[in-house]
Amino acid sequence: MKSSVIIAIDGFASTGKSTIAKMLSSHYQIPFIDSGAFYRGITYFALENGLFKEGVLDEESLSTALENLNIRFHPNSSDLFLNGKNISDKIRLPVISENVSTVAKLPFVRDFLLRELRTMGSEKGLIMDGRDIGSVVFPDADYKFFFNARPEIRALRRYEELRLKGEKTTFEEVLNNLIHRDKIDSAREVAPLQKPIDAFEVDTSDISTQEVFSLLAKKIDTK
Ligand code: DC
Repeated sequence: MKSSVIIAIDGFASTGKSTIAKMLSSHYQIPFIDSGAFYRGITYFALENGLFKEGVLDEESLSTALENLNIRFHPNSSDLFLNGKNISDKIRLPVISENVSTVAKLPFVRDFLLRELRTMGSEKGLIMDGRDIGSVVFPDADYKFFFNARPEIRALRRYEELRLKGEKTTFEEVLNNLIHRDKIDSAREVAPLQKPIDAFEVDTSDISTQEVFSLLAKKIDTK
């Protein structure tokens, strides 16, 4: 492997992208950035500041606010900081998942984060997961992967995670949210979720985390 590599992992919600990205990060000692955390962070900011009025987002106020927003992801801890405050726990709450796709489809939000995400390369390169990393953020990435899995399997995994955290939700709610998000993420005009033609596709429905990791590591080591 060359000394500075960019590994892009895109795909549908809850297919295991971040889990695998973290495993690759520790195996190859390359920083990992979860790009979805940034979209979640901006959604948290909009909700916290009352920018959703009766469910409708005040886009103009959000656009103005972004000019002074400081959003940072710490690759080692995977913590997200918004204007210096650690909001890692808050951005995983169901209310954020319910609203994030509305925020992520706004062209000015995508422009803002595109600039932020592109500055994050390190000397050792980086591993970034998301929806448009191999297609838009780093189209020249050295390795591109695209994850998919059956909706029911993804929903069950996410539901178990939320239940362990003590969140009150049902399997049906989680499943509906995933399907709804995938639809908005895939249909939006700017940088929609789609498999880059040169990405290696992995269906994670019926294979273990360790098997997915081994599959990717083999691809990386043999290219
Ligand atoms: O990976 P995640 O589920 O935490 O991402 C949350 C949302 O952010 C997802 O529904 C779509 C959006 N997103 C995006 O539009 N582009 C990315 N590169 C990453 C995430």
